[in-house]
Parts: sequence; structure tokens; C-alpha cells
Amino acid sequence: MLKVLLIHGPNLNLLGKREPKVYGTTSLSEINARVTQIAGERGVELRIFQSNSEGAIIDAIHDAGDWADGIVINPGAYTHYSYAIRDALAAVRLPTIEVHLSNIYAREEFRQISVISAVALGCISGLGWRSYALAIQALVEILQDRANPV
Ligand code: DQA
Repeated sequence: MLKVLLIHGPNLNLLGKREPKVYGTTSLSEINARVTQIAGERGVELRIFQSNSEGAIIDAIHDAGDWADGIVINPGAYTHYSYAIRDALAAVRLPTIEVHLSNIYAREEFRQISVISAVALGCISGLGWRSYALAIQALVEILQDRANPV
């Protein structure tokens, strides 16, 4: 059974209440329920982790190196400056998809830079909660293709 770790970074615990015009009104637990269903329909075990602290996210990435097949991560504001999270992803070398609810390329200049993208397979940004749904779907298909090459 494929195993995927979904990581939500800082302030994403406030989704639904936090800047709803930017991030939507869907709460984090609603997003988690939707992506858990998508993963379950594909026979994938999804573990979900949220933290507001950089070190805890790095520890979760290191741990994932021992059990996960891939990672979906919304690093929140760490996207724009955490070389430490980038290095952790590079170290474990798990296929990773970066996710953002908002379109970071249509926002303030500081948000238009991701230090994470270079170590991710790809990035889905701007589609609200659907960014997560599409990331999980894509990651599962990529992992399945790698497990069963034609
Ligand atoms: C975000 C975009 C970041 O710039 C911001 O700091 C977040 C959320 C998004 O999902 O759109 O916390 O990653």
C-alpha cells in the first residue's frame, strides 16, 4: 500500500477563519476529510501533519524518509525562505508536490519566490482546497507509474 505524508505549515490551522478572501472558507479539517477520501478511494494511506514550527516540520520530513513513498506539502510562509525545509526534502529525496491555496505568483513580490519548488516534482498553486486534491491525485499516479513501469 502506498503511503503519503501531507504536511500543512504555519497558520494553516486557521483556515476557514484566516483571510477567507485569499484562502477560502474551507477549514483545515474539511480539507483533510476531502483529501483523505481521495486517497482512500485510490487505496493510499494518507497521514496528515500540521505544525506552526519549522523544526517540527523538518522532523516530520526526516521521519517520512523511513515510511512514506511521497510527500505533499504546503509550507505556508516557509515556502519563501526556509532553506532548512528545502534541505530536509532534498535529504530524504521523496517525490514531493508543493501546494498553495492561493496563486502565489499573483500576490506580493515576496510570495512569488519559492525556495521549495526546486526540490519538488511540481507545484499546484491558486486552486483553493482543490490544489491539495489535485496534488494527491497526481502524486499517487506518479508513484503508481514508478511502481509499475510500462
Ligand atoms: C500559502 C501562501 C503563502 O504565501 C502564505 O504564507 C501561506 C499560505 C497558500 O497556501 O496560498 O501561509 O502557502
